[in-house]
Amino acid sequence: MTSIGIHDIAMATTRYRLDHAALAEAQGIDPEKYRVGIGQDSMSIAAPDEDIVTLAASAALPIIERHGTEGLRTVLVATETGIDQSKAAAVYVHELLGLPSAVRSVELKQACYSATAGLQMAAGLIARDPRQRVLVIATDVAKYDLDSSGEPTQGAAAVAMLVSADPAILELEGPSGVFTDDLMDFWRPNYRVTPIVDGKSSIRAYLRAAEGAWRDYREQGGEPWSAFAAHAYHSPFTKMAAKAHKHLAGLEGVALTPAEAEQSLEVANRYNRRIGNSYTAPVYLALLALLEQRDDLAGELIGLLSYGSGSVAEFFAGRVVEGYREHLRPERTAAWIDDREALTVERYRELHALRAPEDGGDRELPAETAAPFRLEAYRSHQRVYAAR
Ligand code: CAA
Repeated sequence: MTSIGIHDIAMATTRYRLDHAALAEAQGIDPEKYRVGIGQDSMSIAAPDEDIVTLAASAALPIIERHGTEGLRTVLVATETGIDQSKAAAVYVHELLGLPSAVRSVELKQACYSATAGLQMAAGLIARDPRQRVLVIATDVAKYDLDSSGEPTQGAAAVAMLVSADPAILELEGPSGVFTDDLMDFWRPNYRVTPIVDGKSSIRAYLRAAEGAWRDYREQGGEPWSAFAAHAYHSPFTKMAAKAHKHLAGLEGVALTPAEAEQSLEVANRYNRRIGNSYTAPVYLALLALLEQRDDLAGELIGLLSYGSGSVAEFFAGRVVEGYREHLRPERTAAWIDDREALTVERYRELHALRAPEDGGDRELPAETAAPFRLEAYRSHQRVYAAR
């Protein structure tokens, strides 16, 4: 059978960051609550001319530059920060990347989970016709109310993946374990910019869903816990990933202390610690961190746990392909994360208050992003994008 998986992977994040130490100081709380308690150092904050489309196109650009568009017939953009109720963000991304018209472009939604649905749909399309390639992009800007418990778990990023037969980086292997449970732990009605969240119950919901997906994975004939060299988890904050890891290990009789669970995920968490929650993207940022930052993983099995509130989860596995390191861009990832400019809390709050005009009014946006694409203006109820 043809192997299918991730042939290329790249990320993008924002122009700005807010350091948790600065936020804690402004709030008059112990900075250790953020650094240790939730496991976060900083969070990416979008400039006025950045959104899910500019992030997605910026993440995918080096992939298109390297591989061209041959065989590319589908673009799936996964997000829960939709900019339109009707038109897919994927169509804007398709235009910015200059893709051929013979491409289907679709947006996917199920909270933080949907990029994994995109990956599985891509695998299905390629199983049907192995000549085809699919671009799957996870892109989100996580924004909570000021002074809410969720505020320190904001962030923004995109991860783009080219999915193909005979992939150069990660082969999807074995079954998926899946789980759905209809509940209200975190949701964002159409009339709201920020979500409604029950923080504590959302943590319990995540753990329950992770357990359900893992148990189903094993029932479907998946590998035992001991087969995995590393794990990548959905990470709203890195401590949550450690909680999930401890929980799943415990189900298999491996008793980890919280510190041991955190240590196991130290490399996987490196990017998410500094980027914050990017909803659909963190599980793939964790994968990217493992691929780019860990000692050789060639031939090893990585377990991935994807979770989206509401709730849907999936546990699946990928085997790292020999020679994968030649296809990565760790310097580019480091530049995206390191080059972000630190915001003052005052400026962060100004950016937080910005809203797209709801009356169709025109607004030109200041050129602030350092990314290859920018949101230039709102004109006549439309977002106008441009290459920089
Ligand atoms: N030093 C060290 N640690 C400290 C500390 C200090 N001074 N003060 C507090 N802590 C620790 C606490 O003990 C706690 O650790 P444990 O969870 O291990 O017990 C941790 O810091 C957080 O403290 P609180 O529970 O008091 O924090 P909080 O109630 O203010 O906020 C939260 C936590 C509810 C998760 C909040 O961040 C939130 O609402 N986040 C948004 C929702 C979310 O991310 N949920 C996660 C699952 S849902 C999901 O995954 C989907 C998604 O992407 C949204």
